[in-house]
Amino acid sequence: MNTPIRIAIGADHAGYALKQALIAHLSARGAEVTDLGTHSEASCDYPEFAHAVCKRIQDGSAALGILVCGTGIGMSMAANKHPGIRAAACSDTYSARLTRMHNNANVLCIGARVVGEGLACDLADAFLDAEFEGGKHQRRIDLITAIEQGRY
Ligand code: RB5
Repeated sequence: MNTPIRIAIGADHAGYALKQALIAHLSARGAEVTDLGTHSEASCDYPEFAHAVCKRIQDGSAALGILVCGTGIGMSMAANKHPGIRAAACSDTYSARLTRMHNNANVLCIGARVVGEGLACDLADAFLDAEFEGGKHQRRIDLITAIEQGRY
């Protein structure tokens, strides 16, 4: 049997309910999911959860991350401040697939006020099932990394 993919997931209050649905969906498809909160619908600050998820990817304890807030945008902004993190806010499956294939995204951000539960699960599936194509896309990611590291 293949080793289960390790996914770190986080949400703010707006994304809490969808996060719970995504955890059930991801677990059912055999993923090993680490829930980094939030754990209720009490108002909270999304960068805290973006940070917790990104740290897990940076230290290698998770391969991929999923972040849920109202729009997916705040989470993507916070996540993309972390070195080595490539986060994409997606609300269509084409983008969720292509951001893995071309951008080697390691975090998927979803807006709970933008998409319903069914589409959110499809977005997660498209993201997880796609593979990075490498080649010319690696060259472009190397440029992103150079910008991030102040070498370009
Ligand atoms: C919370 O109201 C909302 O601002 C947050 O979930 C997110 O949409 C930010 O980008």
